[in-house]
Amino acid sequence: MDVQFQVDENLCIGCGECAKDCPFQLIEMNEDIPMLTKENEANCVQCQHCLAVCSTGALSILGKNPADSIPLTGGEVPVQQLATLMKGRRSVRRYKKEPVSREEIDFLLDTVGYAPTGVNNRQVLLTVVEDPEVMEDLRAKVYAALTKICRDNRFPDGMDYLKGYVLDALETGRDHLFRGAPHLLIVSSPKIGPSPEADCFIALNYFELLAASMGLGTLWSGLAKWTLTALTPEILAGLGVPDSHHVGYMLVFGRPDVAYRRTVQRDSHINRVERLA
Ligand SMILES: Cc1cc2nc3c(=O)[nH]c(=O)nc-3n(C[C@H](O)[C@H](O)[C@H](O)COP(=O)(O)O)c2cc1C
Repeated sequence: MDVQFQVDENLCIGCGECAKDCPFQLIEMNEDIPMLTKENEANCVQCQHCLAVCSTGALSILGKNPADSIPLTGGEVPVQQLATLMKGRRSVRRYKKEPVSREEIDFLLDTVGYAPTGVNNRQVLLTVVEDPEVMEDLRAKVYAALTKICRDNRFPDGMDYLKGYVLDALETGRDHLFRGAPHLLIVSSPKIGPSPEADCFIALNYFELLAASMGLGTLWSGLAKWTLTALTPEILAGLGVPDSHHVGYMLVFGRPDVAYRRTVQRDSHINRVERLA
């Protein structure tokens, strides 16, 4: 593939940073001008580090104009504020009916595309239920299927703990799987990729922290994931998640109907290695 590696020789100062930062040392300096041979181009993973590291914006790859990137000067995000966001993020289990706007969802999904992936494979698929009516249909379908499985006593071994949730949902209307949220995000990636599990988790983590910074609530839902993947795969397929994909996890999200007034207080478990045993 032609990665369109281009250097503006009027801007290039020959510092060689692009060559030094290339993860596979594919860029060569030719009389102080970086070049990428056709042979090396075949091994380029398109990480764009060469474009990102160039101090003068002389380098373009994949047809990207460096002027369209967001400039970085260091210290963009106040560290204490970020730490407080991370400590103050909560699993939200109470949501307003009001949907999150298309603009906000697009902003979130666009940013998730910047999450790292193994060998920069960038194959993570973000399946999103945007329309709260579709979410209602999904909820109804899933609970109908679960109710049937429950009545027929067809829970696979080790999954009959779901029975209690279904019975409670039938009795009280409580939605344990989706927590009444107006939206769902399913993150998946091709099973044959280099690191589908990690890629999906990182993407979800990007999403939840950015969502928290926007005042939105999220919840990782294992109950939804196990139900959709193990018990109702036909519903999952109906959402357009390819069978060839590893389903990383699912998050419900929306506007929280709860406000947390302080962070929780937790400890990290640290194994500080001071010498090798
Ligand atoms: C992988 C994963 C799966 C989870 N599944 C569920 C779930 O099915 N239902 C639920 O209510 N909470 C679920 N949670 C939320 C956890 O219970 C929650 O993160 C934990 O209690 C700590 O609370 P916090 O997220 O507010 O810090 C899940 C969290 C993770 C990370």
